Amino acid sequence: MFTFQVTLRNYSAWPIDIVWENAVDLEHVAFLHRDTNYGFELLDVRPDPRGRFLYDSMTFIAKRKLLGIVPSVNFGHRWIADMYEIWQIDQNPLLGITTCLRSTLEPNPQDPAKTDMVDYVTITAPGLLKPFRRLLEAALRRHTRIQCQQDESFRARRAELRARGINLPPSLFNASLMEQRFAV
Ligand SMILES: [Fe+2]
Repeated sequence: MFTFQVTLRNYSAWPIDIVWENAVDLEHVAFLHRDTNYGFELLDVRPDPRGRFLYDSMTFIAKRKLLGIVPSVNFGHRWIADMYEIWQIDQNPLLGITTCLRSTLEPNPQDPAKTDMVDYVTITAPGLLKPFRRLLEAALRRHTRIQCQQDESFRARRAELRARGINLPPSLFNASLMEQRFAV
């Protein structure tokens, strides 16, 4: 196994609160990022005991298409560590890759009404994949850049609603598998 770190910076033309709503939401993944994610299943959601956030943590399965064709299942767990900061662990059993992500938001220094998304990623992969480290890094950069661009439409929609005085609270649409099977 080998481990390496990557810092990713992406930019949004929208204010930090709108970008945060999108970051917390995972249910848009299966439709807005359909080209790379074809399914999303919520296994468990833990409510925020202090009521600050939409949830405290969640466990999920994200079904992705490697290279656009190979179906691949990722197990993920995320925790809202603080305002504008999410910690997430993803494991891909097929490739044996574990990704630890610290996802943060900052107002853009040039224009504080806009937002920088800064992701600190630590990847652990089998030694066999070491020659492909640069390729993995490039794929990760491309993946987050494309998803960030696709997310701009989500943010534009929320901003449009706010401009019309409609401020719908963020919500979870799906009951987790734990809730469905165990009525927790
Ligand atoms: Fe997204």
